[in-house]
Amino acid sequence: MAIGRRIGLDWSDVTPKSVWMSRRSLLVGAGSMMLAGAAQAKMSGAPSAFSTDEPPNSLEDITTYNNFYEFGSGKEDPSNNSGNFKPQPWAVQIDGLVDKPGSYGLEDILANAALEERIYRFRCVEAWSMVVPWVGFELSALLNRVGVQPSAKFVAFETVVRPEEMPGQQQGILDWPYREGLRLDEAMNPLTILATGLYDEALPNQNGAPIRLVVPWKYGFKSIKSIVRISLMDKMPPTTWNMLNAREYGFYSNVNPKVDHPRWSQASERRVGGGFFAKRVDTQMFNGYGDEVASLYTGQDLTKDY
Ligand code: MTE
Repeated sequence: MAIGRRIGLDWSDVTPKSVWMSRRSLLVGAGSMMLAGAAQAKMSGAPSAFSTDEPPNSLEDITTYNNFYEFGSGKEDPSNNSGNFKPQPWAVQIDGLVDKPGSYGLEDILANAALEERIYRFRCVEAWSMVVPWVGFELSALLNRVGVQPSAKFVAFETVVRPEEMPGQQQGILDWPYREGLRLDEAMNPLTILATGLYDEALPNQNGAPIRLVVPWKYGFKSIKSIVRISLMDKMPPTTWNMLNAREYGFYSNVNPKVDHPRWSQASERRVGGGFFAKRVDTQMFNGYGDEVASLYTGQDLTKDY
């Protein structure tokens, strides 16, 4: 049975960490679970200073309410339609302005990574939000390993193209591959991680298995899933939503309660899982990560250059 589907069904009632951690051993066997085991072995025990102490959303929320257009545009499409996706074996091509370009296998990337849990707020441009306990490592570590050349100013990312496994790619909903990008200083910020797991397990297919970007101060669409290519460039790369509608989706797309989307307010957000009567939460500048990232934008008018 497909792993993505099984997670949604079997784990829905095991939100408390102690329960699913003890269950984890029962689940070892599937390939991706072996990766999770490796991740577990290397994870540092101390909670990250970058983690929020807000309670994380349930695994059920995080794995059944998704945006992953490669599997369809409905919120339940990724969990329903990603069962045939094969996140192993996997390699990421790293090219462009780097000293050591090449194809890096996921095992190799993980063997050299300092994995840790990062509990981050996650704010979608559609004005919903969650708190997600990612497992990942700082993107800067991988970039330093491959040697960024001085002329590099931006980092571009691409998602895998496999229409036979990703039914959404059989339609022209977006221009595939899904593409995203960051300025180099944003990519090197310690908050920017490549996640390979969540809730201490390998990343489910619907969340971007086996490796995805997480940039917590930006709208969720910047956090590109199932990455197969990372390119260092001297120019700003084209990005999927910006190409589709530049007025609605800027390249930077920092969470900003003062800059409304042309079709809705960004001043507040709905925390997924809060129930029908839950009050909306005020959206915070940079999604609450201003202490870490505001200095990246000194002198930049974020109301115009969004
Ligand atoms: N990455 C790819 N390849 N395709 C997508 O459709 N959706 C983005 C982002 N990364 C998307 C993607 C959007 S709009 C959001 S809000 C987040 O993934 C959702 O991540 P989640 O489903 O893990 O919450």
